[in-house]
This record gives sequence, C-alpha cells and structure tokens, in this order.
Amino acid sequence: MSRIRVAVLGATGVAGQQFLVALDRHPSFQLVKLAASERSAGKRYLDAIREESGRVQWYCREPLPDEFARLTVEDAANLSPDGLDLVFAAVESDAARKLEPRFAERVPVVSTASAFRYEPDVPIFLPAVNLGVEGAHDHARLIDVQRKRRGWKGFITPGPNCTTTGMAITLKPLADAFGIEKVVMTSLQSLSGAGRSPGVSAMDILDNVIPYISKEEEKVEKETKKIFGALEGEAIRESPIAVSCTCTRVNVLEGHTEAVFVALGKKGTLDEARAAMRAFGKSFLALGLPSAPERLIDVLDDPYRPQPRLDRDAGGGMTTVVGRLREEVALGGAWGVKYVLVSHNTRMGAAKGGVLVAEYLLHKGFVG
Ligand SMILES: NC(=O)c1ccc[n+]([C@@H]2O[C@H](COP(=O)([O-])OP(=O)(O)OC[C@H]3O[C@@H](n4cnc5c(N)ncnc54)[C@H](OP(=O)(O)O)[C@@H]3O)[C@@H](O)[C@H]2O)c1
Repeated sequence: MSRIRVAVLGATGVAGQQFLVALDRHPSFQLVKLAASERSAGKRYLDAIREESGRVQWYCREPLPDEFARLTVEDAANLSPDGLDLVFAAVESDAARKLEPRFAERVPVVSTASAFRYEPDVPIFLPAVNLGVEGAHDHARLIDVQRKRRGWKGFITPGPNCTTTGMAITLKPLADAFGIEKVVMTSLQSLSGAGRSPGVSAMDILDNVIPYISKEEEKVEKETKKIFGALEGEAIRESPIAVSCTCTRVNVLEGHTEAVFVALGKKGTLDEARAAMRAFGKSFLALGLPSAPERLIDVLDDPYRPQPRLDRDAGGGMTTVVGRLREEVALGGAWGVKYVLVSHNTRMGAAKGGVLVAEYLLHKGFVG
C-alpha cells in the first residue's frame, strides 16, 4: 500500500525536529515536503538549521535522517497542498492562524499550535482520553461538524498544550474509576517547551526557577475542561471539573514534571488508583498503532521517581510516568489522591503525540 504523503510546517523548530524523528521510516506516512519561515526557505534542511558559525541546531537525540537533511525547505506561506494528503504543523500560534486554514481547505492538519484549540468545532485530541474511547467522550465526530460548517475537505486538529497532556492522561483513569471534582497542579516545565525562537535565555534560567509562563495556566485550565467534556449534538459541553494550576520553568532540557492533587467523587484505595492508571488505554493500545507505547501510564513505587532525566524517555517518550502516589486530604471530595508525573513535552506532548493522533485518524478513515 502506498504511504500517505505528508509535510511538516515549522520543520526547523524544536517540535518540528521531533516530527522528523517520529516520521523517519514511518510505515504509513512519507515525509515529502518541509516548510518553515522565509528565513529558512530555499535552503537545504541541514543548511537551514546551521548557524553562520557552523553550529548545527539539531536538538533531538537521534541523528538527523540523511534523506530529510537533503530536502529543500519551502516557505510555508507559499507551500502548495498539491501532492499532499496530510500536514503536520509546528509553528507559533500567530503563524498557525494564517497557515493552517489554507491547508485545511484541502487536507487534514494535525497541529501543535494553540491557534484553533478553543474554537467550538475544533477538537483537542488526546489518544485514549477523548479519541478512541466510547460514547460522548470520543470527540472524533467533531471533525465532520467542522468540515460541514467550514466547507473544508480537510480539518484542523490541534493537540493539547504540552503541560495539559501529562495531566489529562493521568486524570482520565481516575475520572473513569472515581469521578473528578477538583484538580490543583504545579508544573516544573522544561526549557525545550519554550521552543528555539527566542527560547529561554541561559542568563535567566541558570541557578533559577521562573515562576511564570505567559498564558500557560489559562491554557491548562481551559483545555482540561474541553478535553473531558461530552460531545452533545454538534458541540462539546465542558466538563465541570475545577482546575487550578501554577506553571513554572525549571533548568531541565526535556520533560515536564507536575505535582497533581485531585479531589475525587467516590471513595477508593491507592491500590485501585494505581491499578486503574497502569491499565489505562488498553483498548486503544490494542490497535497496535506504530507510535503507541506499550503503556500510556507507568506507576513507579520508588519515592524518588519520576525524574525527568530518568523517566522522560519511557515508551519512546510516549509513556507518562507517575510516582509518589498518596492520599490527598486537604482538597475535600469523597476521597482524593496526589502524585507527581513526568511527561515528555516534545514527544507525547507535541510531535510524536500528533503522529499517533494521525495514525488513529488514518485507521478510522479520516485521513487518506
Ligand atoms: N516545544 C514544545 O515542547 C511544544 C509542545 C507542544 C506544543 N508546542 C507548539 O508547537 C509550536 C512550535 O513550537 P516550537 O517549540 O517548535 O517553536 P520553535 O522552536 O521556535 O520553532 C518555530 C518554528 O516555526 C517556524 N516559523 C516561525 N515563523 C513562521 C512563519 N511565519 N511561517 C512559517 N513558519 C514559521 C520556524 O521557522 P524558522 O526556523 O524558519 O524561523 C520554526 O521552524 C508552537 O505553537 C508551540 O506552542 C511546542
């Protein structure tokens, strides 16, 4: 079977580079076009990420695939959807707002940007949380609503903010088993989450913690309510879960750490909560999609875990690692739990998570 022809917009950036790694020798997707800003256009990919000094700004652990290094980067503003079946977009929100609809008129766009996340006919897909699940909590049908309303052949599906991702994945088995009333979360977010341009300056972050990330807390609070909402008719009814968070930047390269406190609707035990997390997403994983990990959540008993350096690459960066699972007593509710998680922000939280969504949409016939 011939592979689906895809392009990556924002291919030179931190998330874009992770798309290249996730798409290298992919069984279903063939990367045929790379695009970025005017600054990179017309250069071979390797030259586009090489500074004048000769330093190559390649941030992934894996080597840059030769086949992609030789491709010429195109100006995303002029890139034609001709010859493409799907577009992965990893550009900042302002650029995404202009670029993504132009492609979505013709082909599906799986995005990492926030530009369209909050529009009523745009789902924020998170595998096994609101995609590939039963009933009104599966938001896939919103794709048809979006296509009809906008008259597009394609559609736009952004992933969540990378800080929402790990939290929402770990909340889902708790929501299913016990019901969730309130969530309080403090994040310790990595530097790669801020991207490359301009990114976080070494002068600001060395020997330091920055207690504010612009617009991040609002995103996490809003997105969680949408992701856990129920699709009724042609719209998502937001979940009543109350979410409150503080987002901070720490001196870690990759992997967001989050301390999560949850008030639940029903009494349970820590063993039940642990078992629910470990068993999470079994039917989604049974599809055997190429980018899916063996487990979506792992729960460790060692009280000194999870740590970003040790745990961010679990399941190829696609497993959210939970530890320090304890009872929560201060938030109220029928019962509560608290825990720490580590989630890979540029893999599950951005590019490889987007590729997994596209694999599922291909499997279901929304792509291709
Ligand atoms: N980093 C993460 O952990 C993460 C996680 C989840 C979501 N996201 C989202 O992913 C998107 C990209 O983030 P990033 O961290 O990869 O940023 P980044 O490292 O700064 O990369 C930005 C990319 O966008 C391109 N670009 C900038 N302006 C453009 C324009 N007008 N037209 C076309 N391309 C343009 C840049 O190309 P040039 O090299 O040519 O300038 C570069 O390829 C953002 O929306 C971000 O919120 C990021």
